[in-house]
Amino acid sequence: MGSQEMDQLAPREVFYANSMQSIMAFRSEFQPRRDDILLISFPKTGTTWLIALCHNILSLDDDEKEEVDVLAKMNPHELVPPLDVNFLSDQVQDLLLNPGRSKGRLLQTHLPYNCLPESVRNSGCKIVHVARNPKDTLVSMWHFYNKILKLSEMERAAESFCSGVLPCGSFYEHVVGYWEESNKRPEEVLFLKYEELSRDPEEQVRKLASFMRRPFSSMEDGDAEVEKVLRRSSFNRLKELEVNKNGVWELHRLPNNTFFRKGTVGDWKCYLTPQMAKRIDQLTRLKLQGTGLSL
Ligand code: A3P
Repeated sequence: MGSQEMDQLAPREVFYANSMQSIMAFRSEFQPRRDDILLISFPKTGTTWLIALCHNILSLDDDEKEEVDVLAKMNPHELVPPLDVNFLSDQVQDLLLNPGRSKGRLLQTHLPYNCLPESVRNSGCKIVHVARNPKDTLVSMWHFYNKILKLSEMERAAESFCSGVLPCGSFYEHVVGYWEESNKRPEEVLFLKYEELSRDPEEQVRKLASFMRRPFSSMEDGDAEVEKVLRRSSFNRLKELEVNKNGVWELHRLPNNTFFRKGTVGDWKCYLTPQMAKRIDQLTRLKLQGTGLSL
C-alpha cells in the first residue's frame, strides 16, 4: 500500500477483543473523583516515567512522616495499572477503593480522549498526558512487542504505525485529542513531552507538581525536593532495581524489564531507514498541520 492510500485510511480505535469487556465496564462504571489525577499516554511514550514522577511528587508529604519509597520494591505499572484493560480485576477494584493515600488517587489509562468515560470528561479531575516523538515511539513499541510476542520486521511495524492499526488506535489521533483538550482546559489537562522532560527535567517536574496542586517551594528545600523526585524516578535508578531487572508484573505476566530499554531521545536513527523516517515525517506534518503541536 502506498503512503497516499495509507493516509486516506481513517483509523479508528483498535483494541484487543479480550480487553473489550473491561474497557466497556471502565467506560460505564468508573466514578472519578474531583481530586483524581489521571495519567494518560499512547503506549511507549513515557508512561513508566510519568507514573514514577507523579507518585514520587505525591509521596513527598508522606516522607515527612516516614521514609517511604514504594518504587524501590514495586514496578510503576504494578503500582498504577492501566484502568482500561484491568478494570474488572480485583487489584484495580481494590486500588479504586483503597488508593493508599488520602489526597487524590493516581490512576492511569491509554485510552484516546474520545474513548474516555463520559464521567471523566465532566468530573473536573486532572489529566496529565505525555507524548513523544513518533519515530522514537514506533521504535520503542517495536522493541516492546518483539520482546513479548516476537512479532514482525520494522517495515511492517512502520506500516501499522502509519495506518493507525495499533493497540489504542492512531498515535496521531491520540496526541491531537489530548493536545486540543489541554488548550481548551489548561487547568485540567496538562500536556507533557518526553523530549522536554529529558531536556529540562527540573522545569518540567516543577510544572507537573504545580499542576498537581503540590508545588515545590522556590527556596532551597524546593530544589532538594525536585532533586529527590528526579533521582527516584530516573531511568538509570529504576532500571537497575532488582524488582525491575528480574521481577514480573503478575497482572499481565510481563517481565518488568520490558519497560526499561534505553530511555533516550533520537534512538530511531539506529533503526529506521531514511525512507521510513521520511514517510513518518511527512505523515506527522500532515496529521499535526494546523494544530500548533510539534513532536
Ligand atoms: P525506549 O524503548 O526508547 O528505551 P512506556 O513507559 O510508555 O511503556 O514507554 C517506555 C519507554 O520509556 C522506553 O523507551 C523506556 O526505556 C522509557 N522509560 C522507562 N522508564 C523511564 C524513565 N524513568 N525515564 C526515561 N525513560 C524511561
